Order: sequence, then structure tokens, then C-alpha cells
Amino acid sequence: MRVHLALLTFLSATALALPSSRLTTRDEDHVVHERRNALPQGWVKRDRLSPHFEIPVSIALKQQNLDRIQEYLEEVSHPDSKAFGQHWDAARVASTFAPSQETVSSVSDWMTLHGIGSTRISPSVSRGWLNVRLSAAEAERLLRTTFHEYEHADSGIVTVGTDEYHVPARLVEHIDFITPTLHFDAKVKRDNSGNLDSSLQRRGAHPHPSPNHPAPNHAPRVVGIGKSLGYPGQSTSEPKFVPLAPLPDGHPHPIVNDLKNCSNSIVPICLRALYGLPKLEGEAKIQDGLGIVEYTPQAYRQEDLSYFFSQYAKGLKYTKPKVVSIDGGYAQTVNQSFEYNGESNLDLEYAMALAETQTTLYQVGDPIESASFSDFLDALDGSFCANDDPSQDAVYPDNSTDPLAYKGPKQCGGIAATKVISTSYGYNEADLTPLYEQRQCNEYAKIALQGVSFFFSSGDYGVSGNNGQCISFTNSSEYIDQSQGGRFNPSFPSTCPYITSVGATQIKPGKTVNDPEEACETTIYSGGGFSNVFSIPDYQKSAVGTYLSQHRPSYQSPRVYNGTGTSRAFPDISANGAKYLVRVDGQYAHVFGTSASAPVVAAIFSRINEERARIGKGPVGFVNPTLYAHPEVLKDITEGGNQGCNTPGFTAVRGWDPVTGLGTPDYKKLLKLYTSLP
Ligand SMILES: *[C@@H]1O[C@H](CO)[C@@H](O)[C@H](O)[C@H]1NC(C)=O
Ligand SMILES: *[C@@H]1O[C@H](CO)[C@@H](O)[C@H](O)[C@H]1NC(C)=O
Ligand SMILES: *[C@@H]1O[C@H](CO)[C@@H](O)[C@H](O)[C@H]1NC(C)=O
Ligand SMILES: *[C@@H]1O[C@H](CO)[C@@H](O)[C@H](O)[C@H]1NC(C)=O
Ligand SMILES: *[C@@H]1O[C@H](CO)[C@@H](O)[C@H](O)[C@H]1NC(C)=O
Repeated sequence: MRVHLALLTFLSATALALPSSRLTTRDEDHVVHERRNALPQGWVKRDRLSPHFEIPVSIALKQQNLDRIQEYLEEVSHPDSKAFGQHWDAARVASTFAPSQETVSSVSDWMTLHGIGSTRISPSVSRGWLNVRLSAAEAERLLRTTFHEYEHADSGIVTVGTDEYHVPARLVEHIDFITPTLHFDAKVKRDNSGNLDSSLQRRGAHPHPSPNHPAPNHAPRVVGIGKSLGYPGQSTSEPKFVPLAPLPDGHPHPIVNDLKNCSNSIVPICLRALYGLPKLEGEAKIQDGLGIVEYTPQAYRQEDLSYFFSQYAKGLKYTKPKVVSIDGGYAQTVNQSFEYNGESNLDLEYAMALAETQTTLYQVGDPIESASFSDFLDALDGSFCANDDPSQDAVYPDNSTDPLAYKGPKQCGGIAATKVISTSYGYNEADLTPLYEQRQCNEYAKIALQGVSFFFSSGDYGVSGNNGQCISFTNSSEYIDQSQGGRFNPSFPSTCPYITSVGATQIKPGKTVNDPEEACETTIYSGGGFSNVFSIPDYQKSAVGTYLSQHRPSYQSPRVYNGTGTSRAFPDISANGAKYLVRVDGQYAHVFGTSASAPVVAAIFSRINEERARIGKGPVGFVNPTLYAHPEVLKDITEGGNQGCNTPGFTAVRGWDPVTGLGTPDYKKLLKLYTSLP
């Protein structure tokens, strides 16, 4: 039996990983550190491990100063701060947040007391983790628990874990969590049968965009088990598409490059006109300023990019992305279809056409194992790598016998971050544990402190989660279809307060690029709402407070959504997400999604960085504090909504709203503001 300790998609919404769950046990000295109240769906507890079974145990230590991370980030990114733009270097980030010596020694001493020789304990480079190989008997004694095998019934995957574990009360403040324990599950490999769960297919709720193209609704791809919705290798905020009639090779597409037709078909000039983005003059000063992240097996096709640019971005200097491979990532060509090429082609065609600079493609993971967001962060920051949760993130070398498996070492650091990074993938916040999300979110902040702006698409299902799932009112571990109602299901990392979440708009039917847009209600609905995990950051308190006091929706709070004004709200900004003309596999399709909006916004901020570089200024870094302080540099969107969970969702209103955020970019105003800042 294969034992997978390194599984990716995560199902333990039933795991109680919160301090409040610590209960005193019979033994006064020890407390329950984490406990689950139910096994994730599809898993069965099997035999107890034999006492000699060797378990690679990792102890995640508490880092210092994390409670101040938001303050640090505001210091370098709030326009009124004296330190605006004074980003940190990696060494300062590492030393500020490393666990204290007291933490490291208290936890090591505890193990030594249990007869685990100090030579067996290896601290990670960052000191974030202590790693030790223990026999099952030792681990059981140390953690006052029993270790079992757990088997996933459908896939046969087996992992080791526990239902709860204990640590001495005095160590609670030093330990985040320990693996492998509750955090298993379930990187279930991609379902090769292309299995679609018919109960999740999109229904008539999404009107077809054009009666001229009676293409079927694009059925969401479902990977994983039960309610689990996929590893990031699945583009969960996956764009929806409508193929256009194929044309003979070399035949110019009848959709002319004309601003008059933008309400029917978005091409790059439409976006330039909508957001006031001029052509770049002269040579780009910044190289590698913009990065697009894709998770294999999603892959771009250069033929499509080249053809698209030749028709809709003539004269573009950089027509090939600079591919940076992480953990064996490459643009695979074995599988070609909209599902495999749609996301990457969309992101690159539009980001490159608008940014007009060398664009970096971070291609992450091999086609077998794929990868998680944390695997990407590992590549940027070796110290986060050491802080990985080995129970959730992909492990390399890949143990699969598939010839496509990547046999090289996992990438830990050594990959440079572009100053703007766009990702059009996402999880439901409820798919992951709060601890895992908080660690990852803090890492975005640490990289943002170094002057990097992260943009993520906000999701395509309005207030519902990926594939239209909502959360049961009676059991927060259970998903129900959006047609049944239920609790709104926000997306992650959009709910992380240290990234910029991008929603979707559309040109109103029959209107032009000169008219105000509205929230996207064609085929997809802009993801938006309120976090169930993260507190509201200072920068958006006033904007969100105004929304909740002046436009409070009638839904019951906090039953339906957290309307207390104390939780992180998203999206922050938006851009057009409807009817993008995209070249995919030698044909054109119309593509819809916040997947389109994120790279467009990223390209615009990359252009701001370019203009700042030309006057000797550094990158903008984290943009939210500036945008919320200066909403006048965005075009407020005041119409449309984001239905879901059998409700009309939220409605776009004057000022910030949980549909389109603060609005769409107004490049000239953004540029004026940002060039005036230090
Ligand atoms: C993968 O293989 C390596 C060496 O072949 C082995 O050390 C490691 O334990 C294996 N990992 C898993 C998860 O099976
Ligand atoms: C991808 O291509 C491989 C090789 O042709 C095939 O075995 C596999 O089933 C394909 N995957 C899907 C999901 O179509
Ligand atoms: C306008 O867009 C539609 C696609 O919805 C296309 O069929 C039509 O040919 C386009 N017209 C022009 C003049 O480009
Ligand atoms: C909640 O739902 C989960 C997932 O479906 C299930 O495993 C668990 O037993 C449920 N809990 C209760 C109390 O019904
Ligand atoms: C709402 O969110 C805040 C911040 O995350 C949290 O502290 C509070 O408990 C939530 N309220 C409810 C009722 O869930």
C-alpha cells in the first residue's frame, strides 16, 4: 500500500484547528491541540500503525511578530505613510518573523525529555519547523494519541493520521500545529475519465450570452471527491467559453479590431479604451515586471498566442512568455482542449497584449502531481518552503511511475518574484483549514512587504462557491447546491487581506466603451462577499462600513453571510470579464470569467510600475491601502449583482460593494496618483 503523506487538496473542514477547541484532558498538564469531530467525506479509518512504523513528524512553530504584519504592510503601502514604497529586503522579513529561540528550545527540550535525542531533531533553515522521524510508538507517547491508517475509499489512497493529539499546556503558545495528524487529505489525482458530477452542472441560471451561438453551457469540471473542489491545478475560477465558428487557416477572423463591437466581443483595444490605457511609448525599462501563474496540466500554446497577437496586438514586441518552470512545470501538449489551454491562453494573450513588456509565466507542478499555491510560494521563498505543511502541498520528486512525473527536487526558494503577479485560480475558503489559510496569507504579506502586488480572480459564481456550491446552514462542513440556498461561500485567497481580489464587469448590452460598465451578469457572476476566516483589515473598514450601513442587504447576518463589519470583504477592484475573444487550439472562443479580469488589472499595474521606474521610483507593492484611500482613481460600478445560493446576491452600489469592489481602473488617474507618491 502506498502511503501518501503529502496530499494536496484539503478536506478537513471538520478539523477543529482553533485555540478554542483546546480542551483540558484527564491529564492536567496536557491539552488537546487539534481534534476532528468527523472524518472528511469518503475516508475510512483503518488499522492502527504498527509500533515500528516510521513517521516523518513536522512541528510548525509559532512565528514572532505576525500580529504586526498588517501594520508593517500598511507602513510601506499606505499613501499617507512616510515609509510608502520603502519595501523590506528578504533578510529583514526573515529575521522579523522567525520563531523565537525560546520557542525553538522549549519544543526541542520537550522531545529530548521524551528520549528523542537532539541529533534526530532538525530545524528547518528558517527555524519555522522542527522535523523529526519518529516511530509510531514514540509519536503516540509524545502526542498522547494513536496513529492509524486512513483510506480514501474511492481512490485507495492511504495516509497516516490521528483524530486528535495533545501537547503540554505550556507549549501551546509555541506550536502552530503538528503533521501528519488531522491535516490529511486528499489530493486525489485528476479524474481521467473526465468525470463530471451532473448535479453540479450549470443550469439555466446562467443565460446564454448570444442566441447566435447556441453552444452548451460549459459544464464545470469536477476533480476530487465529495465536496472537495480541486487542487489549484484545476482552475477553479475556470473561465467559461463559447466557441466561435471555426475558420479556415489563415483566414482573418470576421471580428474586426474595432471599438464599435466591444459589447459583443472584447479584444485588447476594447480594454485599452475602457480603462484609458495608452500604448507603451519607447522601450520598456522594467524587465520581468509581470508574472502570470499557471498550474500544470493547464498549459499555453505558443501558436495560439502568436496568431492572436498578429491579429489583435500587432507590433507587440514580446510575443513569447519567459517560462519559469517550478517543480517540473512545463507547457504540456499531451492534452489539448479548452479545459487544458483556455485559462493559460486567456491569461497570457491579454496580459501580454496590454502590459507590452516581457511577461514571466510561472508554470508550476508536473502534470501528475500538479501543485498548490503553497508550492508556488515555496519557490519564491525558501523559508516558506521549510514552513510548508507537508500534508497538503505537493511533494517532489514525484513518486509516480508515470513517465511524465517530475523527478527533480522540490523548488525551495531561488525563483525571483516579479513585482506584479496574477493568478486566476482559487479555492473555496471552506475547502481549507483556517490555520493553513492564515499561514499562506501571511506569506503573501511577507512577499508584499518586499514590493510585490498579488492579484487573484474573485470567482465566477457570485456569492456561491466554485461550481455553484453553498454551505449548509446546519452543518458548516457540508456543501449544498446553490439552487438549494444555503450560506454564501467565499473564495480563497480572495479573502486574504494582503492580496488584491479582482471581480468582473461587463459592457451593458448595446452600449459602448464610453458608457459605464455594470457587474458581469453574462454567463458568470462576479465572486464577492465576506470572509468566514479573516478579520477586516484597517484599509477597508470605512468603505465596508458605509456599504453595510447604507446598503445592507436583507439577508440574515451572520446566518447567511458575516455582515458584522468585522470580516474581510472582497473583491477590491474589478475589470471586464465577459466575451473575451481568445485563441485556443487554433480556434476562437468567447471567454467569460474573473479569470480574464485579474490579468488585465495586473497588466495595468505593471504599466504603472513601468512609468514609476521611468521617473526613478520603485514598484507600487500592495495596492489596497492606496486604492481604498483614493477610490476616485477608479470608476465606480453601480449596477448589476452577483446572484448565488438561490438569492440575488449582493448589488453594486455607489462606493465599495461586494460585487465589483471599488470599481474598474482609470489608468490616467491611477498613474497621476502613483507618480505623485514617493
Ligand atoms: C518517495 O520515494 C522516495 C524514494 O524513492 C522515498 O524516500 C519517499 O518516502 C517516497 N515518498 C512517498 C510519499 O511515498
Ligand atoms: C491526457 O492525455 C493522456 C495521454 O494521451 C491520456 O492518457 C489522459 O487520459 C488524458 N487526460 C484526460 C483527462 O483527457
Ligand atoms: C461583432 O461581434 C460578433 C460576435 O458576437 C461577431 O459575430 C461579429 O462579426 C462582430 N462584428 C464585427 C463588425 O466585427
Ligand atoms: C457534517 O457534514 C460532514 C460532511 O458531509 C459529515 O461528515 C458530518 O458527519 C456532518 N456532521 C453532522 C453533525 O451532521
Ligand atoms: C464574523 O467575522 C469576524 C471576523 O472574522 C469573526 O470574529 C466573527 O466571529 C464572525 N461572526 C460570526 C457570527 O461568525
